[in-house]
Order: sequence, then C-alpha cells, then structure tokens
Amino acid sequence: MSGARHTGIIGVGKYLPEKVLTNADLEKLVDTTDEWIVTRTGIKERRIAKENEATSDMAVRAAEKALANASLKAADLGIIIVATITPDMFFPSTACRLQHKLGVSGIPAFDISVACSGFVYGLAIADSFIKSGLVKYALVVAAEKLSAVTNWKDRSTCVLFGDGAGAAVLGPVEEGGIMGIHLGADGSKGDLLQMPAGGSCMPASVHTVENHLHCIQMEGNILFKHAVKIMGDAAKAVTEPLGLTGEDIDVIIPHQANLRILEAVAKRMGVDPAKKLYMNLEKYGNMSAASSAVALCEAVEEGRITKGKTILMDAFGGGLTWGALIIKW
Ligand code: UT7
Repeated sequence: MSGARHTGIIGVGKYLPEKVLTNADLEKLVDTTDEWIVTRTGIKERRIAKENEATSDMAVRAAEKALANASLKAADLGIIIVATITPDMFFPSTACRLQHKLGVSGIPAFDISVACSGFVYGLAIADSFIKSGLVKYALVVAAEKLSAVTNWKDRSTCVLFGDGAGAAVLGPVEEGGIMGIHLGADGSKGDLLQMPAGGSCMPASVHTVENHLHCIQMEGNILFKHAVKIMGDAAKAVTEPLGLTGEDIDVIIPHQANLRILEAVAKRMGVDPAKKLYMNLEKYGNMSAASSAVALCEAVEEGRITKGKTILMDAFGGGLTWGALIIKW
C-alpha cells in the first residue's frame, strides 16, 4: 500500500483488574497513612491483578476493546507492539503471547521496554510503520502487573503502583492524527528507578530474592525534580515546532505518577491544571506505561476528547526515558 500521510488513533480500550487496594488497606500493611499518600501523591486507591492473571491477560482484554472501538478485527492488524516492564516472562515476548490470545499469527509482534514512557514510544513506532506504508493498522498495548514486582514491605514504593492495561488501534486517517513526536532518553540516570535483579547483570539467586532485588527500587525525591523539568521540556519540544502554545492544547494526557508533578508541569506550561490536565491517578496509582494508555481511553470515554481537539501526551519514566506527542483527534 502507498504511504499514509496521517496516522490517527481510531480505537481505544482499557482493562483494570477488579480488586481495589485502598490507602486504608495499605495502612495495615506498612507504616503509612491515607493523609500522607493523598497529600504527597494524590493517589487514593489502585487495582491489583489476580495471582494467576498475567500481563498478557490484561493486555488482551484492553486490546479487544480497542479493536471493537475501531470496528476492526485482530485479523486486520499489521503489527502488535506491547509496552511493558512486567512482561509475562523474558521470552517469548508478551506481544507474541498477546498475538496468540487474539487468535492471529504471522504479523510482527514485539515488546518495548521503555518503562512509563512506553505507550508514547509505542504510538510513535506505530506511526512510523503506518506513515511508511509498511502496515495499515497497528495495535499498541501498554500493560503492567506492577504488583508482581513491588516490595510490599517498602512504604516508599508500595503505596504508588497499580496494575492495568490500556490499548490503542492506529490507522490511516484523512486529516489530523499524530502531528508531532518528541522522544528522548538519558541512560546515565538509570539507577534512579530500576529493578536490579533477574537479568544477565544480576541473575536470580537466593540472595536476590531475600533482598527484594526483583522489586522496583526508586529514588523518588530525585526523580520528582527530573520529572517536572523533563516533562515540561518535552512538552515544549513537541509544541514549539508546530507553533503551538499551552493555550492551543485542549487536553493534556500525562503519565500519572504524582499529582504534584503534574500540577508543576502544567504551571511550567502556563496552563490551568484544572482545565487542561486529565488525571485518574487517584483511582489507579502509577501503572507505568499503562497509566497514559488508560488515561487516554478514559478521557475519550468521558467525552473530554472529541473530534477536532488537540491532545498533548507527555510521559516520563525509568531509563530515564521521556516522550511527548501532539494528536489532533
Ligand atoms: O513513574 C515515573 C517516575 N516516578 C516518579 O516520577 C515519581 C517521582 N517521585 C514522587 O512522586 C515522590 O518523590 C514520592 C511520592 C515517591 C515521595 O514523595 P516525597 O514528597 O518526595 O517524599 P520523600 O521521599 O522526600 O519522603 C518524605 C518523608 C520521609 O521521611 P523523613 O525522612 O522526612 O522523616 C519518608 O521516609 O516521607 C517518608 N515516607 C513516608 N511516610 C509515610 C516515604 N514514604 C512514606 C509513606 N508513608 N508511604
């Protein structure tokens, strides 16, 4: 097929596990309070997947909804990209397992490991495949089972994360769609947010299990400052070349790490957070890559995003990585 000039998001979907873990529940697990969690983060509750529910199980539920929303079938897809840092296993990839669960085969399927910026990176990759004419329709799913890599004895991290999945189907559109992309990374600061063990650098051992080295470790305070600056800079880097200012953005879909980070980013952009920021972290906490995917889906479902609106997606996470997109809906 010939190269498409515009790539649009033509379907969105989400899946959140049923089990709700509230701040009151966490008060019984670690030395914390609802008051501390709400004032420092904005989070009130998060969802927790079942023990036997894998990342691909959540991914397939979100993907099926996004396909139905796009009025397409899995057989129409040309590529499947899954953004996750909690894959079902190292290999085969969660994308290959998702492909199988969707009942298709043959088309390329692969995971990307970009932590919280994964959904934005995935959309950008899908955009290139579609614009180059290599595929017509792409499925991007961001799915995380962070509860599986959380140290439930560490109050500085266990109150922050949740499980869930969000999906988007992308395809050629006549006008609008993805107008601008800015992606970046800074590997020198990788140790600020990591899961140190289980890979070739530190293979699994009794020592790694006993010391919770298969769990998320985070220097929250230092990351906070980077997040505000980097998300603010990324927003500028993607809007300026298009001649856009904060005024021109109708809805900002940020990675949902912390209410205070998002308010600070909005301030740097000179926009009113109450009017422009879409937030759902009070219900779900930080779901890494799935956060912005679920937020996009809910903003569409709630009618905040409608045809003709200009959307800024702005994500930041481990790596460090960051990504911002402008989408004309
Ligand atoms: O997902 C992408 C990347 N992630 C981020 O961008 C996250 C960025 N960071 C943050 O969101 C915030 O730094 C946190 C929410 C993680 C922490 O908030 P903070 O305001 O930076 O708190 P802090 O780490 O500076 O800790 C302040 C105090 C400490 O006590 P002392 O040393 O002042 O006595 C902590 O021990 O709060 C204590 N603390 C807690 N207290 C009650 C840490 N966690 C908790 C807790 N409950 N859960």
